[in-house]
Amino acid sequence: MTIRPLVAGNWKMFGVKAAMTEILSMLEELRLQPAGCDALLCPPFTLLPVAASVLGGQGIALGAQDCHDQAEGAFTGSISAPMLADAGAAYVIVGHSERRHGLGETDAVVRAKAAAAWSAHLTPIVCVGETLQERQAGQTLDVVLGQLKGSLPSVLPASLVIAYEPVWAIGTGLTPSLEDIAQVHAAMRQHMAEQFGESGASTRLLYGGSVKAENAASIATIPHVNGALVGGASLKANTFVPIVRAFGN
Ligand code: PGA
Repeated sequence: MTIRPLVAGNWKMFGVKAAMTEILSMLEELRLQPAGCDALLCPPFTLLPVAASVLGGQGIALGAQDCHDQAEGAFTGSISAPMLADAGAAYVIVGHSERRHGLGETDAVVRAKAAAAWSAHLTPIVCVGETLQERQAGQTLDVVLGQLKGSLPSVLPASLVIAYEPVWAIGTGLTPSLEDIAQVHAAMRQHMAEQFGESGASTRLLYGGSVKAENAASIATIPHVNGALVGGASLKANTFVPIVRAFGN
């Protein structure tokens, strides 16, 4: 089965309107020389409407970095999935480790957010990944598969993307060996196919954590790696577009 790769940029809490020049450069470069890969940017909430108008629904898809699990209500400071859809987003990241570990989000919270995303016709990107301590204790597969089981419903209602992001590889410049990534992705694929049949067998499985232009081509060759979730290197056209191309080859 061929799965078209997806390279997603997670801008985290970076970027103001001036960053639209980077998005324009990315669009232009990918228009001049299209990559055999889908590209997605997830800027901060404040930039979604302006990014949606710059992107114009072409070339690069738009997503958000989180959503509340309720559609509306008295939740000061929160943003709901229908609001993201209204602002032009088609995807939303849920369960990023900076929220699981930084803000104490549990698998149950992540599952509820994924359900909210589906209800608003958004594609959730559900993140999983072990800490360094868990890896050193030999618990990587248990942790990752446990998070997958806990963060997904028993039936997939619509499209889904999974991102495997070892916590210790995020923003550190460290990456697991290609063999280690391969082992986790093979285990995730087996679980997804067993649990969800056809749709699990075709779910995009992204790798994330210190993906750069320099290591993207080798990561792209790993079986069951169907793209990347990119943080720091997604902020600039000259570091993001080469990663999109590496996965599109
Ligand atoms: P990084 O971040 O590419 O800067 O390591 C990845 C992520 O947090 O999604």
